[in-house]
Amino acid sequence: MSLKRNVLDLRKRKEIVLQGGGEEAIKKQAAMGKLTARERIEAILDKDSFHEYDMFVEHQSKDFDMDKKVLHGDGVIIGTGTIYGEPVCIYAQDFTVAGGSLGLMHARKITKIMDHALKMRVPLIGINDSGGARIQEGVDSLAGYGEIFFRNTQASGVIPQLSVILGPCAGGAVYSPALTDFVFVVENISKMFITGPNVIKTVLGEDISMEDLGGARVHAETTGNAHFYALSEQECFDQVKRLVSFIPWNNQERAKVVEPKEPSAMLNIEQVVPADPKQPYDVRDVIRCIVDDSDFLEIQELWAANIVIGFGRMAGETVGFVANQPMVLAGVLDCDSADKAARFIRFCDSFNIPIITLEDMPGYLPLAQNAALSELFAANVPVCAPGLAVERGLPFCGSTDMGDVSHLMPCVHPWVGCVTGTLHGADYVVSDEETAYVKTPEVLAMTLIDLLCDDAKEADRICREFKPVFTKETYLQFMDDLVRQH
Ligand code: HXC
Repeated sequence: MSLKRNVLDLRKRKEIVLQGGGEEAIKKQAAMGKLTARERIEAILDKDSFHEYDMFVEHQSKDFDMDKKVLHGDGVIIGTGTIYGEPVCIYAQDFTVAGGSLGLMHARKITKIMDHALKMRVPLIGINDSGGARIQEGVDSLAGYGEIFFRNTQASGVIPQLSVILGPCAGGAVYSPALTDFVFVVENISKMFITGPNVIKTVLGEDISMEDLGGARVHAETTGNAHFYALSEQECFDQVKRLVSFIPWNNQERAKVVEPKEPSAMLNIEQVVPADPKQPYDVRDVIRCIVDDSDFLEIQELWAANIVIGFGRMAGETVGFVANQPMVLAGVLDCDSADKAARFIRFCDSFNIPIITLEDMPGYLPLAQNAALSELFAANVPVCAPGLAVERGLPFCGSTDMGDVSHLMPCVHPWVGCVTGTLHGADYVVSDEETAYVKTPEVLAMTLIDLLCDDAKEADRICREFKPVFTKETYLQFMDDLVRQH
């Protein structure tokens, strides 16, 4: 065969592989409002930036008549591309090919691109649309998942891992996303469950719809497994791009610094925060008073809304926010909100993103007290990324230990039932009933609070002066300067 014929043959084979599971299967996807795996990759990446790897890989299985089946690309597309000109690694499972199920070669393609992402120290984006372990390949599929989970843990805290759920995902197709940093879901399209409704009916005799079992809303609102909820695939891809614009490419780089912009002049902390500590307000408005261009990217907006987490920028640099939400359950901490905050704090800490904590809450929900305390404390205590806490209202118990530098807003009445000054490197315990209620001057005298703000404007100014810093040395310098000024 001449070289020219070889090339023509290759092109022909490429045309066939590009069809995935064929026209009928693609039509079925479209009827459900789903894009194809290739369209999804193109929608996320910069135009024409995708380089595909392992396009012609096929499964090697022979059992259950598999040797008579051709599964193009073994049901997954992998490669590299760019977002805003920066390299990322990506894979997308193709539901039109055997339901995107994961056989050994499918798994090897995914682990290849995961290894590549780790080597290049770039984010990994996984688009999951899969029935999980390919039944016909038995333990080979399970071993394949084992290799993926291992890499998920190896990559954790080193490169950001994003999972986009865009179909009915079962078994390993959701175990792996659960190990990643951010999970995206789309209404009516995304499902996440251990196994589908048919298996549940067979095993338990229970009737349950896919939506009730693990629909997008269930995971965005009830379980908290999803971090971002969208109404369409396009909106979801926009969310992916917006998130990556805020985060560093790996744990040794800084997030992209953008042109600083003032917060909107329409927003003012003095108007947002009522003088009466018992009056609720929306803490997201406070964050919008502080961040550049009043642009705040909220994460897990629909779950555990009594705490607010997300990213904004100050002086052009990314900052993570953890804030009690007085508008929901008076901002109390419970298991879910502690879990939500703890996971976010760990991400910020791993990627050196400074954390600003806005505290205003009456305490922990008593029933959940122990679990909530331990989860949030466990996340807060070992944090190395710079932290700053702004306190207002009735900070209680462990809430007073959230940042390296504590600022008191006007109208603060800390009730220190049992204060552990963990971040100040010492323990303070007030156990006596009589002295349990400690007024502001005493709290200041105990060195728990670093700075007292006379008014909201000053608090706002201090927040803006708190420029994100990314090494311990520059951070210590910043602390020195701050103390000298006040
Ligand atoms: C092989 C699979 C498959 C699987 C789907 N398909 N899941 N093939 N292994 N796990 C195939 C179907 O046979 C069908 O092929 C095509 O994909 C489309 O599937 P449908 O069932 O027609 O689609 P739908 O009605 O939308 O239902 C999707 C589904 C359902 C909810 C995902 O297929 C389902 O429940 N699948 C089984 C899920 C499951 O129990 N997976 C195992 C998880 S265990 P044809 O040829 O008919 O088009 C696991 C272990 C991980 O993952 C542990 C690691 C250590």
